Amino acid sequence: MKQNTTRIYGCVTVILLILIYGFFNMPNRNQAVNLTQEQSHYKIGVLQLLSHPALDRIYEGLVDGLEASGYVDGENMTLDLKNAQGDQGHLNMMSTQLVQDANDVIVGITTPATLSLANSTSTIPIVMGGITYPVEAGLMKSEVASENNVTGVSDRTPIKDQLILMKDVLPSLNTVGILYTTSEDNATKQASEAKEIIEAMGWTAIEATVNHSNDIQPVTEHLARQVDAIYIPIDNTIASAMNIVIPITDQYNVPVFPSSDTMVADGGVLAIGVDQYQIGYQTSQVVVEVLKGKRPTHIPLVLANEGIIYINKNKATQFNIQLPSTNQKQVIDVNVTQSK
Ligand code: TRP
Repeated sequence: MKQNTTRIYGCVTVILLILIYGFFNMPNRNQAVNLTQEQSHYKIGVLQLLSHPALDRIYEGLVDGLEASGYVDGENMTLDLKNAQGDQGHLNMMSTQLVQDANDVIVGITTPATLSLANSTSTIPIVMGGITYPVEAGLMKSEVASENNVTGVSDRTPIKDQLILMKDVLPSLNTVGILYTTSEDNATKQASEAKEIIEAMGWTAIEATVNHSNDIQPVTEHLARQVDAIYIPIDNTIASAMNIVIPITDQYNVPVFPSSDTMVADGGVLAIGVDQYQIGYQTSQVVVEVLKGKRPTHIPLVLANEGIIYINKNKATQFNIQLPSTNQKQVIDVNVTQSK
C-alpha cells in the first residue's frame, strides 16, 4: 500500500514537472512561431542595362516604393542589383545568375535587360521598369495580358503632342532633327513615328543616327547645322551622353526636346515626358502585387505617362521659349524638382 502511494506520488510529481516545463516553455514556443513568420524573407533581383540619370532614378523610385510598402532591404527582403554596364554579355551572365539565385521576382530596367531576363526564365515573375514598347519587343502578348511571366510599367510618351507643343513654342519651326541610336528598337520605333508625324504636319524631318556612343559628337554636330530644333526619343545611348550633345547644340543655338524629365534636366528645353522616379515607384507597386501572389499575366501594363510637361526654365530662357498661355497641361520645372 505504502509502495503504491509512493508510486502514485512519483507519477503525479513527474506529470506536474512535465506541465510546469511546458508552461515555462510556452512563451519560447510562441517566439519560435513568430521567428518563422519573420523568416518569410523575399529575394528581389534587379537587372539594369547601364547607369544613366534616368535609369538610376528608376532604381531609386523602386527602392523607395518597396520600402514604403514594407519591404526593406536587409530586413525582410534582399535586393540584388546587377548593372551590366551596357554589355550584352554581362546581361546574359547576370540574368542566368539572378535566375539561379532563386529570386522571387526580377525587375528589368530597359528593354535589352528585360529581354535577356525573359530568355533566362519563363517561370520567375519579371517586372519591367520603364519599357517603351513591351508588346513590340516580344515581352508581352498584349498590354492587357502578357500570357507569360512578364508585366510592369511602360514609359511611352505622346510623340504627336510633344511635336505640336514644339511648334507652339517655336512658331518658325520648320526643320526638325531626330537624333537616335539604330541598335535600340524602342528609339528606332519612336523616331519613325516622329518622322511620319513631322511630315504629315508639312514640316521637314532630318534623321541622324548613332551606332555607338563614339559617333554622338560628329553626328550631333552634322545635324545641328541643318535644323531648327532636335527631337530625341527614349534612347539609352543618347540619355547617357547628354553632356556631349548639349554643348554642341548650344554652340549652334539649337534647342533640344527629349523624352524624359532627366534628359530635360540634363540640358533639354522641355518634354511631355515621364518622371523617372515615378516609373520606379510604380514598378515597385507591381512588384508588391506579385509578391502578394498575383500572376503577372493578371496585371495589365501600367502606362506611366500623365501628359505632364517637364521644362528646364533656364534652358527655355536661353532660347527665349515660353509655354503658350493657353496651355492646360501640368508644368513642372526640372530645376526645382531635381534640386530637392
Ligand atoms: N524605355 C527604355 C527602354 O525600353 C529605358 C528607359 C527608361 C530610358 N527611361 C529612360 C531610356 C529614359 C532613355 C531615357 O529601354
